Amino acid sequence: MQGRRRHLSGIQPSGLLHLGNYFGAIRKHIEEQDDGFYFIANYHALTTTKDAEILREQTFDVAASYLAFGLDPQRATLFRQSDVPEVCELMWLLMTVTGMGLLERGVSYKEKKDRGIVPSVGLFAYPALQAADILAYDSDVVPVGKDQVQHIEFTRDMAQAFNRAYGDVFKIPEYTLGTPEPVPGIDGQKMSKSYGNSIPIFASGKALKKLCSSIVTDSKELEDVKDPDTDTVFALYSLVASEVEIAEMAANYRAGGYGYGHAKMALKDAIEVRFAEAREKRAYFDSHRDEVEDVLRAGASKARAIARDVTDRARAACGLDAPRA
Ligand code: ADP
Ligand code: TRP
Repeated sequence: MQGRRRHLSGIQPSGLLHLGNYFGAIRKHIEEQDDGFYFIANYHALTTTKDAEILREQTFDVAASYLAFGLDPQRATLFRQSDVPEVCELMWLLMTVTGMGLLERGVSYKEKKDRGIVPSVGLFAYPALQAADILAYDSDVVPVGKDQVQHIEFTRDMAQAFNRAYGDVFKIPEYTLGTPEPVPGIDGQKMSKSYGNSIPIFASGKALKKLCSSIVTDSKELEDVKDPDTDTVFALYSLVASEVEIAEMAANYRAGGYGYGHAKMALKDAIEVRFAEAREKRAYFDSHRDEVEDVLRAGASKARAIARDVTDRARAACGLDAPRA
């Protein structure tokens, strides 16, 4: 393949997008969007969401948000995972060369099960579908947050196992990280939709103020000297504020006489400023839903053509004839 290396990533429509999603993954998707393939992983979301209307609404929300963040459909391909059902077939082919032991090592499965999510076969096989998503488009690079690294490693293992059995069918992908460590939530743990600790990207006003106020800090008093490097408010501020503002807040922490309350309100303001333009565009797409649907359909037809070729390649390699239409 010539030209730019193909970037591909997926994001589940399983709740409001938050700062962890943005800085961990989405920012890179937008910055490196040329020839990028980004999809809304609605098949995956079925492992946790069991309400059709909510799934449809959240799928729209992710699509509209990507467009609001600046995804340009002329440069990148945005689509719904389920508009390319070939990935389900590829998943099957991959599962036949994947040992049970590999999926049993899955951290995300264990973690979701521990959280009380019903451990369906789908939840267990989740990484095989993700591998199919990646391999179906001959992807070179998968920009994700740190929690997804194991899934990319599984993808490489599955692709190599298939290639060992049937020849050089799949391209072996790499990953890149948006932030070296997970973005912390208001309790200081990894920000996640399912931990109830997230700050939605489009939160604003009173709701945002409330969230910022509830960020957990140590119990230093206003006049005490504080350490920016161990504080969640500062960590989040560093993502959304300008360099000058960040340096200013760090100096305030180190000087003392600057309370966490001040820092939290500065964080709230910085989040509102950082996403003001996107918030406006997001509102536009709410009243122009057809435009979003058109983008998704055009994206699906482009993505599906590639996935069909790759699936045919895999079918031929393992002795299945191409479907006789
Ligand atoms: P959640 O954990 O909130 O359900 P997803 O699993 O849908 O988030 O993640 C979508 C993308 O955002 C993935 O690439 C994931 O690695 C990234 N991501 C999610 N939470 C964080 C975080 N706290 N820090 C960095 N990246 C994150
Ligand atoms: N598992 C990813 C997440 O929870 C979403 C996803 C599905 C994905 N398929 C993918 C990410 C393919 C990258 C590539 O965030």
